[in-house]
Amino acid sequence: MIHPVSRRGILRGTAASLVMASAAPLLATAPRKLRSDFLWGAATAGHQVEGGNVNSDSWVSEHLRPSAFAEPSGDACDSWNRWREDIDIVERLGLNTYRFGIEWSRIEPEPGEYSQAALAHYRAMIDYCHARGLRPFITFSHFTVPRWFAGMGGWEEAANIDHFVRFCEVAARGLGPDYTHGLTFNEPNLAPQLSWQPDFRKAMPMFALGNKAAARLIGADRFAGTLTSDTTKTVPNQITAHHRAVEAIKSVRPDLQLGLSLSMADEQAAPGESALERKIAQVYAPWFEAVRKDDFIGVQTYGRAIVGPDADLPPPIGAEQTLTQMEFYPEALEATVRWAAKATGLPVIVTENGVAVADDRRRIAYMDRALAGLGRAIRDGVDVRGYIHWALLDNFEWNRAYTAPFGLVAVDRKTFSRTIKPSGPHLGRYASRNSL
Ligand code: BGC
Repeated sequence: MIHPVSRRGILRGTAASLVMASAAPLLATAPRKLRSDFLWGAATAGHQVEGGNVNSDSWVSEHLRPSAFAEPSGDACDSWNRWREDIDIVERLGLNTYRFGIEWSRIEPEPGEYSQAALAHYRAMIDYCHARGLRPFITFSHFTVPRWFAGMGGWEEAANIDHFVRFCEVAARGLGPDYTHGLTFNEPNLAPQLSWQPDFRKAMPMFALGNKAAARLIGADRFAGTLTSDTTKTVPNQITAHHRAVEAIKSVRPDLQLGLSLSMADEQAAPGESALERKIAQVYAPWFEAVRKDDFIGVQTYGRAIVGPDADLPPPIGAEQTLTQMEFYPEALEATVRWAAKATGLPVIVTENGVAVADDRRRIAYMDRALAGLGRAIRDGVDVRGYIHWALLDNFEWNRAYTAPFGLVAVDRKTFSRTIKPSGPHLGRYASRNSL
């Protein structure tokens, strides 16, 4: 049952209202000192920054013609070679955490064949973070999978789960004991969430054709790319994979803080008929249930979704839009953090939050409004343990390639030289105050 709450006069309910018995108490305004181990970080993902990730499913899809990608990832930010410089920048910004992904397709280029060199590379990154006083926060799977895995039907096949579990165990051993936090999956609920966007629905036939073309390209019978497969099959399989991966990783690293992250919009019901409850049941509920025994829930928020009778509606007329055609709506973070905490009973780490804008002043404004909301949630007692901004670098933004800058740091596309934007030290100042 959706409680009739009025939000800015146009909406009749929110996802948060489905799980919150009453509205939040009146808010105090004095800044609250945060826990001394609060994570202040910036994030990247292997495929989006490393470059030359030729053995991944995304690389295959990026090279189809026609392609859903504006351009292939290519050299990305060349972080495979420039990772020391990236870590130095995180330190220079005054942050204490670097979240980055390890690439399964580099570590296991063929089934059962593990690259010690790739593992040593990621372990060196972990060591270097420590040398710089940073906490390394590891993502085991950030969307991409090895092309051989996609060619075996990817997450659509329950029999493939074993491969992921073994990879996680091998990686957990190879990475050593010196990282404190990990995510098995980044946003495994993204594909179902995207299916509520009208544009994505329109593109689905093209993705389906893409899967067929990709299969032909790599000589497989079937190719199931991570974001383009049948979610009625992938969701249950990824839930099992998450549970088994947690068990495998914890058998090596029982002390690790481990969870997964969810793509969370501030889900709001449009006036009149809204499929809000149906959307939540499909996109979120299975995952809220699946994470119950985890150490934390990773919340990743970019804005709100206004849910109409059977799909998300476009942003309100006249609303400021970002370069990913989303409404500029930083207040979503407060709502999703409260919602995630209530729905899972877990401590929350904001593992991604950010905005694609050309004008860095808008990123600062976004950050300030998002963090003000986070502060309100914390003052109301929500157990939030970190804020990690997406992204450290302007990087490969999937199908939009290099047209949607999310970074605290700009990257020259030819020389790969990095230029810190004002938003970088701005976030660093929050970290040094450690209060909200
Ligand atoms: C993903 C990132 C992506 C970001 C911005 C999140 O869904 O984890 O890989 O770049 O959003 O779109």
